[in-house]
Amino acid sequence: MTDQEIRERMAQFKFYHIIPLTETISTPGNTLYVPAQQLYLKYLRSLDLQGKRVLDIGCRDGLFSFEAEKQGAAEVIGIDNDLSKPAVEFLIPFFQSRVKMEQMNLYDLQPAAFGLFDVILFPGVLYHLRYPFWALRIIRELLNKDGILLIETAVWNREKNNSLLFCPTGKESPYEPSSCTFFNVKALADTLSVLGFEVLSHECLPAKKSWSAWRKESAGRLHYLFTGRQRPIRDVTRCVMTARFAGIDKESRYLQYWESTHAIHSKIGG
Ligand SMILES: C[S@@+](CC[C@H](N)C(=O)[O-])C[C@H]1O[C@@H](n2cnc3c(N)ncnc32)[C@H](O)[C@@H]1O
Repeated sequence: MTDQEIRERMAQFKFYHIIPLTETISTPGNTLYVPAQQLYLKYLRSLDLQGKRVLDIGCRDGLFSFEAEKQGAAEVIGIDNDLSKPAVEFLIPFFQSRVKMEQMNLYDLQPAAFGLFDVILFPGVLYHLRYPFWALRIIRELLNKDGILLIETAVWNREKNNSLLFCPTGKESPYEPSSCTFFNVKALADTLSVLGFEVLSHECLPAKKSWSAWRKESAGRLHYLFTGRQRPIRDVTRCVMTARFAGIDKESRYLQYWESTHAIHSKIGG
């Protein structure tokens, strides 16, 4: 394809990711997300993906799926509940990629659909989920023992010594209303631990405010001043966390309590 043809083809789509196509042409995605994506790429590139099965949840235009393929993954499957037309119709053929993408909600994922994975990429989705604990449980069931989960998400930057989940609704979200789940780092690490993961690393971006976040914050301040209500603390940043699925103890009484049937009350009474 000539540069001219690539540009004409790109003009037919709306892109989210900025993906280099040639030395001089990249897809016109959103620059706002680049710092978090760069941090994520750093951790993704540090994994050994040779011959691995990789699942990319919420893959959008496939920035991380294509990178996983480049890093030698044997198979890469991406799912998204709003499948990217530019990825399927343009990028996959352009790269002659073997990445497979399917439109699907992560809550409908089951091992029977695509089997188990060695690595699950889960960037930019957790903070959009209304049922985050259930999603992490689903993901756990899709990982091979010792498989790696690489999360990137927006985290609430307060109360660092307590496991807290900030779950705002509507205008109280620091982003927009579909962004409703902000663990702080401790809560995310603790949640992964009880689900059978060993947290290997985490790194957050420095919590500096963008111009639009600052404007929103100022407007919010006025709103709460006039209504007399207390203003939610919208102190969020982005964090990448790596975890290994160490396995679960199915006999654990708490796991049985949360996920299955148990006899705790019957035994102790009360
Ligand atoms: C903020 S974008 C992040 C895209 C990409 N993962 C990244 O980090 O650059 C969130 C993506 O996840 C998808 N998504 C959100 N909730 C989902 C769900 N429950 N199941 C599957 N995909 C979901 C959205 O459609 C969107 O493409």
